[in-house]
Amino acid sequence: MPMSRRRPWRVRLRESAVWRSIVRTPPLDSPRGRALRSFGNVFLHLYPVRVPRAVLAFRSTFRLGFIATVLFAILAITGTYLMFFYTPAVTMAYGDMQQLRTRIGFGQLIRNVHRWGAHLMVLVVVLHLVRVFVHGAYKPPRQFNWVIGVGLLLVTLAWSFTGYLLPWDQLAYWAVTVGSDLVHYAPVVGGPLRDFLLGGSTIGQAALLRFYVIHVAVLTIAFLLLMAVHLWRVRKDGLAAGDPPHAHDVTARAADDARIAAIAGAALDIAEPPPTVVTGDGATVARPVPRVLGVVPPDPLSRAARPPDDEVFSWPHLIVRHQVVALATCALVLALGIAFEAPLRDLANPNLTPEPAKAPWYFVGLQELLAHFDPLVAGVLAPAVLVGALVMLPYVDRNPSRRPRDRRLALAIFALLFGALVVLTVIGAFFRGPGWAFVLPWDALYFEP
Ligand code: HEM
Repeated sequence: MPMSRRRPWRVRLRESAVWRSIVRTPPLDSPRGRALRSFGNVFLHLYPVRVPRAVLAFRSTFRLGFIATVLFAILAITGTYLMFFYTPAVTMAYGDMQQLRTRIGFGQLIRNVHRWGAHLMVLVVVLHLVRVFVHGAYKPPRQFNWVIGVGLLLVTLAWSFTGYLLPWDQLAYWAVTVGSDLVHYAPVVGGPLRDFLLGGSTIGQAALLRFYVIHVAVLTIAFLLLMAVHLWRVRKDGLAAGDPPHAHDVTARAADDARIAAIAGAALDIAEPPPTVVTGDGATVARPVPRVLGVVPPDPLSRAARPPDDEVFSWPHLIVRHQVVALATCALVLALGIAFEAPLRDLANPNLTPEPAKAPWYFVGLQELLAHFDPLVAGVLAPAVLVGALVMLPYVDRNPSRRPRDRRLALAIFALLFGALVVLTVIGAFFRGPGWAFVLPWDALYFEP
């Protein structure tokens, strides 16, 4: 054989019996290998084997949901490490925080990463919600996944809030006091609900233990359950960015439905064996009827015929992009953890109220609202209406189009509400000082994250 036609040694090695006895998956540069890469790994199994090319574009999702998932993983790992050195007792908790700083290997760094990661997660989840809204990705067939998403947002906020108390310093104690005071403004249920959460009317040992258990166990279980459904639905429906261009067009979708039903029916006809069979002794008898219990036609939105070259293998195209985003997220949180120390003020003192006592930043907008409206309106009605509106949104907004130019009213209302929340949060966080008086942040800054 001429030298030029000999196959490279790497190829021959990979095809040798010895190599294949060790590495049993086919090479990743073949379509079969790429497909098996997704099938054969429990984590990659979350991905479909092929995805529409459009979802590769960064702007299709800004990878925000994925970043939130990575942050969850970082928080779970760092949180578990912190649990080894933390006791949820008012006599111990603050001392444990100090020990983390001085005596535990990487203790302070892990605490910093956990704290900044938690703040970042709240921010990223909110941005993910905004992205999904602006792209109209909550419209059919993804309405229910939006509702699950609202549940995840609430869990994320509750996670951050319950974690806030655990260092048991002045910042923790008073931020949670202000935050949980909002609950008791609710008529009838407010008082009992606060007593149930705190184990009494003030924050003490019972509250610390409850917040700890809710933080590490109750919310983790709730999050995992909601995430399982959320990601399962994303996997089944595909991403909105991958929908065919006419997905928003009801007439075209009805045509797709009919076409797919016809294809499903035709496939059954073809598969239908002849009505009789010839037995071993030559007799012709009626064939036992196989029962088809149900045919589930593919979702017209996500499975509508697209040109074959419009899809790419998840491995490596999407998965490698996700790996880069995951590494960048880890690097960012680590850099924040190295650069900025998580605050730890003096030991919690119920008799010494700091001025001003501010709620955690994501609730400080509500605290600012309290300065202008009746507590019932600002502390109860406003958040309840906001959450209710978010849950109802996909069912109230019946406009089938996802194009921004067809959704000017919805986008304007959303921008107005979201803008108001951001302005209230910025004022409450940076422009309020002792006695909730207006101060300029460059004169004196009364904000600690
Ligand atoms: C902890 C919170 C959350 C996590 C970890 C999460 C995770 C994800 C992931 C990984 C995706 C795939 C697309 C992407 O990477 O962006 C996704 C899509 C989606 N999420 Fe979330 N999500 C969360 C919260 C929310 C919230 C608050 C909402 C809305 C209220 C929401 C609604 C949706 C919808 C509708 C989709 C499908 C989007 C599309 O098809 O373009 N999610 N989520």
